[in-house]
Amino acid sequence: MTRHAVLAGVGGYLPKRVVTNDDLARTLDTSDEWISERTGIRQRHIADETETAAFMGAAAAEAALRRAGAGAGEVDGVIVATSTPDQAFPATAARIQAALGITRGFAFDLAAACSGFIYALAVADGMIRAGQASGILVIGSEVYSRILDWRDRTTCVLFGDGAGAVFLHAAEGPVTPGAPAVLSTHIHADGRYGDILYVDGAVGQPDRPGTLAMNGSAVFRHAVVNLAAAVEEALAVNHLDRASIDWLVPHQANRRIIDAMGKKLGLAPERVVVTIDRHANTSAASIPLALAEAVGDGRIRPGQLVLMEALGGGLTWGSALVRL
Ligand code: UT7
Repeated sequence: MTRHAVLAGVGGYLPKRVVTNDDLARTLDTSDEWISERTGIRQRHIADETETAAFMGAAAAEAALRRAGAGAGEVDGVIVATSTPDQAFPATAARIQAALGITRGFAFDLAAACSGFIYALAVADGMIRAGQASGILVIGSEVYSRILDWRDRTTCVLFGDGAGAVFLHAAEGPVTPGAPAVLSTHIHADGRYGDILYVDGAVGQPDRPGTLAMNGSAVFRHAVVNLAAAVEEALAVNHLDRASIDWLVPHQANRRIIDAMGKKLGLAPERVVVTIDRHANTSAASIPLALAEAVGDGRIRPGQLVLMEALGGGLTWGSALVRL
């Protein structure tokens, strides 16, 4: 029996504390002007010690289940995309599973840096199609504030903390035109470029952090080329043209990359969901957080076609095409 996955609900969580560019400029040789012109970022949310990847991920997952009208009993599995787990193990996903009162099914973390949410969506979609699960929570949760060198102005101004989640459930039968479905996912990696964006050391522990390092302009060049290819791939496989896309929900790394992708798709700027100004780059959380915002405020409506894309450390990149 053919089956496919439907995105039934989405939710997000942002830490309470907001840090503006001017706040950073008080202790760092930077300025609101440089940060906002080069990146589009104006502020970011920064976690306190209680706002761990598991805490934020559980809050986002609860919101996604609520929106889907689903209970914990319908969750067969939890997949968490994170580069900043609370502990090496148990997986953040197992901690979230326990926090939600789920006592069956599977739970695991997945590491694909900023592409993590697209990777996790691809895995969950495949498991649902294969009949291995009927309800999966796909979560991106990150506390990059714990892996930043706060003296390095070339990296620390770029990132923020937060979590986003979607609940996928199975629908029997083939995808029918116009009906809600995860239509396709495409994921890629090229480990030759592992040294242009990496964390050197242990992650996720306030007292023993590894530190993020990035060759920004090299990553920027790969992003523009690889994301364009991933978008073309999604359109070609689904026999769609650019005009069919209702919304672009991109990874939020740099406003200039986001604008270039919107332009490439011929989308009006108001059809591109932008959160980078308020959230900065929240890595694996950025796409589900942006989706939660735009679905929550009624911009993205049921039946619309949403294209998502991301590139991150690995290098990893990918795209997903979903009809809500
Ligand atoms: O999410 C994972 C994927 N990540 C990305 O896609 C990020 C891609 N890369 C980027 O978004 C951009 O490359 C950055 C925003 C990281 C950097 O922008 P850029 O236009 O490529 O700047 P740059 O690195 O070439 O630096 C230009 C200048 C340098 O000064 P000099 O050497 O020209 O004198 C930097 O030292 O800007 C300086 N600079 C800063 N100045 C003030 C770098 N960071 C800062 C800062 N404040 N925070």
